[in-house]
Formats: sequence, C-alpha cells, structure tokens
Amino acid sequence: MGGCQAVLDPNNQKPSSKNAGYFLSKHTCAWLACGFVLLALLHLLCCAPAGTRPAAAFSPLLQYINNTYSFVSTVPGVGKSCNYSEGKWVWAPGHVLRYNATRCNVKATHDCIRNGRPDTGYLDWRWQPAAPGCTLPAFDAGSFLAAVRGKHVAFIGDSMARNQAQSLICLLTAAFPYRLQYRATGDPGKYNLWRYAFPSHAVTVSYYWAPFLVRAEGKSVDDSVPHNYVHLDEPGERWSADAATIDVAVLAAGHWLMNGAIYYNGSEVFGVHNAPEEFANRTKVGYAWPLRLAYRTAMERLVGASRGTPRDMVLATFSPSHFEGRPVQSPTACTRMEPYREGEKELEWVFREIRDVVYDVAAEARRGGGGGERTVRIEVLDVTKLASMRPDGHPGVYMNRDPFANGVDENMFSDCLHFCLPGPVDTFNEILVQLLKKRR
Ligand SMILES: *[C@@H]1O[C@H](CO)[C@@H](O)[C@H](O)[C@H]1NC(C)=O
Ligand SMILES: *[C@@H]1O[C@H](CO)[C@@H](O)[C@H](O)[C@H]1NC(C)=O
Ligand SMILES: *[C@@H]1O[C@H](CO)[C@@H](O)[C@H](O)[C@H]1NC(C)=O
Ligand SMILES: *[C@@H]1O[C@H](CO)[C@@H](O)[C@H](O)[C@H]1NC(C)=O
Ligand SMILES: *[C@@H]1O[C@H](CO)[C@@H](O)[C@H](O)[C@H]1NC(C)=O
Repeated sequence: MGGCQAVLDPNNQKPSSKNAGYFLSKHTCAWLACGFVLLALLHLLCCAPAGTRPAAAFSPLLQYINNTYSFVSTVPGVGKSCNYSEGKWVWAPGHVLRYNATRCNVKATHDCIRNGRPDTGYLDWRWQPAAPGCTLPAFDAGSFLAAVRGKHVAFIGDSMARNQAQSLICLLTAAFPYRLQYRATGDPGKYNLWRYAFPSHAVTVSYYWAPFLVRAEGKSVDDSVPHNYVHLDEPGERWSADAATIDVAVLAAGHWLMNGAIYYNGSEVFGVHNAPEEFANRTKVGYAWPLRLAYRTAMERLVGASRGTPRDMVLATFSPSHFEGRPVQSPTACTRMEPYREGEKELEWVFREIRDVVYDVAAEARRGGGGGERTVRIEVLDVTKLASMRPDGHPGVYMNRDPFANGVDENMFSDCLHFCLPGPVDTFNEILVQLLKKRR
C-alpha cells in the first residue's frame, strides 16, 4: 500500500518548562498507517535549540533570491491585515458551512457525519483573532476564487495538507461548478494526487502527497517498507515536475519528520532520526534541522521554477494531534465534545518548536530579499494555536463507519490528528483566503 499517513503521538509528556528545549526523555510515537497498524516506539529527541543551527545549506537559495527577487510579506498592523495566529474559539452556531463531505470525495475516515458521529456541536465554533479590530469572516467561495483568478493553487505536503486541501475542495464545489481534472487510482493513491478545475474563474486546485516535501523513498510511498529514506537536497519529484505551473503553493509538513528517517544529501547520509540499528552510528539530526532543509529545498525549487512570474508561497504551521497520552488503539483517545478553554492546555514545546521552524524559514527567505521587484510573496499560515485548541474536532472512533454497531471494542482505533470534514480545518481555509486577498 502506498501513501500511508503517519500520525504522531507525543504522548503528552510535558517536560518541565525550566529545562524544555534540550531533551524530552521518552516520547511515544504512533503510526496510523493505511491499515492503521500501531507501531509505538521510543522517540529520543536530540535536537539542539533551533537558533544554534548553521545555515549553510540555505545559502544557494539566499543568493538566488538576493540576485533575483524580493520577498515581501504584509506586516500585521499595517493597513487592514490581521494576525490570526492568536485568538479564541467562540460559540457561533451556523457559522460553519455544513457541506456534504461524501459528495466531495473526502477520505471516508474524515467523513464523520456519514460515519455516524452523533454530536454536531464541534461544527458551531468560529475563530476570533486576538488582534484588535480583527474578525475572521466565514469562508466565501466566490471571494476565494476571485482572489486566485486564473491561478493554479497547489497543496504540497503531508496528510494535514491533504485535510486542508480536501476541505477547500468541499467548500468550493458546494458553491461553484467544477470539473475533476485528474485523480490517481487505487487506495490511498486516489486521495494523494488530484486536481480540480473551477472554470468560472479559471482556477485549478491540486494536491500532491509529499510528507517530507522533498524526495522520499520507503514507507511514505510503500507502506510495506519500515523506514523512510529522504533526500533533503531534492524536491519531491511529482510536484516538482509541475512546479513551473504553480502560482500559489501551500506547504505543510512535520509529522513524518518527527517519526523519523534516514536523511541523505546527495549520496551521503546526512544524518538520522529514529533510525534502524544499522544506522545507529550515524549522526542524530533530530527532526527540526531536516525540516528546515526540506522547506528550503522545496522553496528554492518553487522560486527557481517561477521565472519571475508572481508567486505566493503559504507555509502552514504544525497542526498537533490530541491523543493526550492515550494509545491510538483506544476508543477513548479523543472523545471531547468542546474546544479547550483558554489556559486549559498549554501547547507542548515540541509542537511550538516545529511551528517556529516554519516562521524561521519564512523569515530567512524574506531576509534574503533586498528590495526591487516584488515577485515572490511568503505568508505563514499559523494554525498551530487554533488547531491545538480543538481536541473535539477529530474523527476519533468515527474514522470508521458506525463504530459501535457491534458494541465497544477496546482495541478500536481513533484518529486524533486529522479533522472531521466539515470541521475545524475549514478555518485554515478561512485564513488562507484572507492571506491571499492581501495586497502585494
Ligand atoms: C550537501 O552537499 C553539498 C555538496 O557536497 C554541500 O555543498 C552542502 O553544504 C551539503 N548540505 C548540507 C546541508 O550539509
Ligand atoms: C543578501 O543581501 C543582503 C543585503 O543586501 C546581505 O546582507 C546578505 O548577506 C545577502 N545574502 C546572501 C546570501 O548573499
Ligand atoms: C503573529 O503573532 C504570533 C504570535 O503572537 C507571532 O509569533 C507572529 O510573529 C506574528 N506574525 C507576524 C507575521 O508578525
Ligand atoms: C450526502 O451525499 C450522499 C451522496 O450523494 C448522500 O447519499 C447522503 O444522503 C448525503 N448526506 C446528507 C446528510 O445529506
Ligand atoms: C557505521 O557502521 C557500519 C557497519 O555497521 C559501517 O559500514 C560504517 O562505515 C559506519 N559508519 C560510520 C559513519 O561510522
């Protein structure tokens, strides 16, 4: 089976805030693979704090940008732009558009309503940004399509990128005529490579499965292989082949890097994270540094392929899971029916660290620019806080149809990572519209 998704369960082992940043002793990860086979393993996080890492690998990109482009980003507080990253969920019945996810071909495991989830309160919240004077409007399909008229919008990344891409397709196809341009075959292949067209606005929206962003062999393309072999210096082949056609790229990755891989730079092993025995003597590079390199390689490819045409890169931040210390194979892993209240749950530092990698690579890329032509725009789509507050928005046991039809099975799997469709992930797209509508 190919293209399986990995789900991380950091098992809620919060280090004391005093020594956070260096070691997290033991860390349980879990894979929810295609067949949702549980694979728990000890997870030694070995990374130095982000800021101490050298930036050598980025220099070709920085030089390229210096010579060619200027990166710009709208500064919050200037003009009408808002910072949506901080805020709170407020009760707002009727705010979320309740599309029929069966009609827009979402993965059956995310189709919570069809699968029999009985409560619907998780659909009745809206995100209220903390920034003064800011509200986040409900998703408006016409407004999205107008903002990207004539463009190809491509989601590239892991299963959270796909979750957001499918949400967008549901929101758009519920309101506008569309054509399915292509869809890979087989399961899960058919969810991992597809493109829709919206002829009224000459817009196309596609999704490319690339959980490391860069070229990867092994588990991410063939679930029977136990490990991932990841080429940090080469962009993912499938999306890279289309890079010249991509006007708006939405990138999201992180979960697979936390699970681990053997990382290559060219033919050399660059380092490992959670690697098998035979790689035990290799440099342990953790997940944050490879994640940086992967983003840099992907962004370099997109900039290089743009050849001076305007281009948007949206870097979505990490959307954390809510297994809350319980095993993935448990009917009670995520059963909450309401968001967390402010202060009820602190964001784990691991999740914050991965979010910060994205801010860092965006800032590095912008610093590379020295004025002149405003060609490539980078935006951070910071969903970490809003997603972390929504333990109620996951399918849980309703990843399967009518899970209690035969009573309660103690070994039932729960999906506490992806969001139900419709669900809180629709809010990612509410923010995406606002980012894309901002003036260059
Ligand atoms: C990868 O290898 C190239 C060529 O040997 C080298 O220039 C580059 O610095 C390496 N990148 C990293 C991240 O080590
Ligand atoms: C890019 O340009 C800035 C300002 O002109 C300079 O400070 C920086 O060193 C340059 N970066 C590279 C990688 O050339
Ligand atoms: C938005 O707010 C967050 C959290 O306060 C902050 O980390 C981030 O830098 C802000 N975004 C921008 C683009 O300034
Ligand atoms: C959603 O659409 C499917 C397929 O068209 C249909 O069978 C189902 O009844 C619809 N569900 C709801 C809740 O309308
Ligand atoms: C690691 O061990 C293998 C044998 O298990 C050996 O072939 C290889 O050269 C070693 N690599 C390093 C970097 O020490």
